[in-house]
Amino acid sequence: MKTLNVGIMGLGTVGGGTYTVLTRNAAEITRRTGVQINVIQVADRNIDHAKTMTGGSVAVTGDALEVVNNPKVDVVVELIGGYTLSRELVLKAIANKKHVVTANKALIALHGNEIFAAAKANNVIVAFEAAVAGGIPIIKALREGLGANRIEWVAGIINGTTNFILTEMREKGLTYQDVIGEAQRLGYAEADPTFDVEGIDAAHKLTIMSAIAFGMPMKFEQAYTEGITKLQQVDIKYAEELGYRVKLLGITKCTNKGVELRVHPTLISEKRLVANVNGAMNAVVVKGDAVGPTLYYGAGAGAEPTASAVVADLMDVARLIDATSAQRVPYLAFQPEQVHDLAILPIDEIQSAYYLRLRASDKPGVLANVTKILGDLSISIDAMLQKEPDDNETEADIVILTHITLEKNMNAAISAIEALPEITGKLVRIRMEELGK
Ligand code: HSE
Repeated sequence: MKTLNVGIMGLGTVGGGTYTVLTRNAAEITRRTGVQINVIQVADRNIDHAKTMTGGSVAVTGDALEVVNNPKVDVVVELIGGYTLSRELVLKAIANKKHVVTANKALIALHGNEIFAAAKANNVIVAFEAAVAGGIPIIKALREGLGANRIEWVAGIINGTTNFILTEMREKGLTYQDVIGEAQRLGYAEADPTFDVEGIDAAHKLTIMSAIAFGMPMKFEQAYTEGITKLQQVDIKYAEELGYRVKLLGITKCTNKGVELRVHPTLISEKRLVANVNGAMNAVVVKGDAVGPTLYYGAGAGAEPTASAVVADLMDVARLIDATSAQRVPYLAFQPEQVHDLAILPIDEIQSAYYLRLRASDKPGVLANVTKILGDLSISIDAMLQKEPDDNETEADIVILTHITLEKNMNAAISAIEALPEITGKLVRIRMEELGK
């Protein structure tokens, strides 16, 4: 029987889950691959925890470099996180001709280009299914299952922490501040929770999907990110009255002007399946020119769901270890010389529909002034909602949904509307996506 010797760096939530799944399902995994996958060494700062977890059957070290330099290890599983030490370890493993499996989205989004170049030079596999949407096999779907398509766009709920917060805000009428603590206690959040709530974690994952959807390098630095910290309960409520849900979406589109790469709160019609993805669950919609829109749903975090993806990558390594690089699926889905440096559109140049909320004096002519500004900029109104002022109030909330327009036109409209004397304070703007075609 062929064997694959694995070294795991980091035996935390995902590392522990990986060890458990590999051990529990060993017979089934061998039945599928024809290879016996053996964990022969693990590295963790907490050596006692690692020893307890592995029950004395595996060599344990506190120094991850020992795994990377272990001549018996065929494949290194990097589950340490971060992107400084993990980058060094992964590059060293590659230089030592070891295959690498990682769940580290930040590492791939920031240093993927360097890592893949090193991997190509050393003819080793770098697999990263677990880096995006946990247990959902979205990398496999984009790189292989949808390989016949020209991918037009990808949009996903790819951060469980924020989806949990938004679900609680909608279902229980709570504010962002009410639920953030609870979300962190549930254990999905990143070590630095601002990565979740400011959209950075989602941007890491979106960057990876964008690269393999369109065949371009990782462009994390150019991703637009806007989180959920400023979202107000009232907008979630008005959106619902109009038949929409607010989700933190990662959206990437390949347009003839360039690639849109953006993460921000987004209104989606409640009729869309993806609008009904609640709690910490993830979902990704991919539109291919041949297949049309396709939806992938599942747990985006957690020990065993993420381990499911890590172990599937290990199984791919087990099958492909003796293949030539031409027989393997390219890292970025396209042949390396066919990976093109596509331009990312600045956020001003993207196209979107919009939800606008403004607070206006309840006087004749105010709406006419607002709609004139929109009309002069060729922004077409799709729906409108005016709330009656509360008792003793002279101002009313007006909500406007627009058709698709250029973001810079919308910016100009917002500045002009805010300058009207009848308008109080700042206008709230949330982008909207159709996600149907
Ligand atoms: N912090 C991430 C989330 C974990 O909330 O989805 C999985 O990447």
